[in-house]
Amino acid sequence: MLLCCFVGCQSRTEQPDFVSSEEVENLPPELKPEVRKVLREYAGSFEQPVLLMNDGAVSKAQLKLGQAVYQKRCVQCHGVSGDGNGPVASSMYPRPRDYRKGVYKFTSTPYGSKPVRSDLIRTVTNGVRGTSMPSFKMLPPEEIEAVVDYVLALTHRGELELQIAVLADFEEEVDLELVEEESIPLLKRLWERAAGSQVVPMSPQPVFTQEHIDRGREAFLTKGCSKCHGEDGRGQTPDNLAGNLKDIWGNVTRAADLTGGMLRGGQRPIDVYRRIFSGINGTPMPGFGNAFKQEPETMWDLTAYVLHVTNSRRMGVSHLPGQGSPYIPVTEETDDATD
Ligand code: HEC
Ligand code: HEC
Repeated sequence: MLLCCFVGCQSRTEQPDFVSSEEVENLPPELKPEVRKVLREYAGSFEQPVLLMNDGAVSKAQLKLGQAVYQKRCVQCHGVSGDGNGPVASSMYPRPRDYRKGVYKFTSTPYGSKPVRSDLIRTVTNGVRGTSMPSFKMLPPEEIEAVVDYVLALTHRGELELQIAVLADFEEEVDLELVEEESIPLLKRLWERAAGSQVVPMSPQPVFTQEHIDRGREAFLTKGCSKCHGEDGRGQTPDNLAGNLKDIWGNVTRAADLTGGMLRGGQRPIDVYRRIFSGINGTPMPGFGNAFKQEPETMWDLTAYVLHVTNSRRMGVSHLPGQGSPYIPVTEETDDATD
C-alpha cells in the first residue's frame, strides 16, 4: 500500500503536462481557469489526449502510442505542448516548429492552406535536410503514423487554444456557444478544405534539358527570385545578411541558399515545383503559381534551374541534358513515397 502510494506520488510529480500559451497567460486571472477548462473539454489533457478533428479513424490507443513516440523522440525539440520550445530548441536555426499556429511549411497544398496528413508523414520520415529536424526513417511505419496523429492533436489543440483566448479577451468571458458554433467549425472547414486541394502541376513534367535550365536561369533573374535569393542563388542579399526577413513565428529567416545541396522542402522535382508554386507558409517565400498561369512551362524551367544549381555546387558537377527524372503523376500514394 505504502509503496504503491509512494510510486504513484513520485510518478505524478514527474508527469509532463501541457503549458498554456502566451495568449492565455496574458488574460485577466479570473478568465484563465475557465479557458483551460473549456480547452480541456474539447482538446483533452496530457493524460487523455484528444484529436479534435477526428473522422473517427484515430483511436485513443493510437494517440497514446503517438504520445509515447513523441515523448521519446520529439519532445526535446518541439516541447510537451508542441510549442517548439523544448529544452534543446533555443539555439537552433531554424527553430523547431511551433505546431500551435497550425501553419506548416512543406505542404502539397496551395499557399495559406493547412497541410494534408501525408505531408507531415513525408516530413517526419525524411526529416528536413539542412536543419536539426532529423529523419525518422528507422521507425516502423505505424509509429510514424501514430506520432503524426499526435502532432495533429497538438496542432488542433493549439489552434483552438488561440481561438478561445482571443475570444475570451474580446468578450471578457468564455462564450461556449461561440466556441462550438464558430471556432471549431471554422477550424474544421480549413482542415477539410486542405484535404482536397493538393497542387497538381499545371503542365506535365518535361525531361529536363540544358534549355530548361537556361530558360529557368533567365526567369530566375527576371521574375523576382534573385531579389531575395541573389543572382547566384546563394541568398547573399543585403536583407538576408542583415537578418531583416522574419517568419510568422517571430524568428529571423533567410531566403534559402539554393546552391547548398540542402533543399529543405525535398529534392524531388515535384517538391521544388510545389515550393515555387505554393511558396512557403509562414515565411516571406511567396507562391508563384498564379503569376505563371499563362506560362506554365516557366514553373518547370525554374524547377530545372533550382535542381541544377542545388546539385552543381555540392557535387561539383552539373545536370547533363536529359538527365532529369521522369514525371510521376501525383497521387496520395506516390506522394507518400520517400525520396
Ligand atoms: C533535434 C531537434 C528535433 C527533433 C528531435 C525533432 N524535430 Fe521536428 N523540427 C525540427 C526543426 C528545427 C524543424 C523546423 C524545420 C524548418 O523550419 O525548416 C522541425 C519541423 C518539424 C515539422 C514541420 C514541418 C513543416 O512542414 O513545417 C514537423 C511536422 C516535425 N518537425 C515533426 C517532428 C516529429 C514528429 C518529431 C519526432 C518523431 C520531430 N519533429 C523531432 C527539429 C526537431
Ligand atoms: C520575398 C523574398 C523571396 C522571393 C521573391 C523568392 N523567394 Fe524563394 N525563398 C524565400 C525564403 C525566405 C525562403 C526560405 C523559407 C524557409 O524555409 O524558411 C525561400 C525558399 C525557397 C525555396 C525552397 C528551398 C528549400 O530549402 O527547399 C525555393 C525552391 C525557392 N525559394 C525558389 C524561389 C524561386 C524560384 C523564386 C522566384 C520565382 C523565389 N524563390 C522567390 C524568399 C523568397
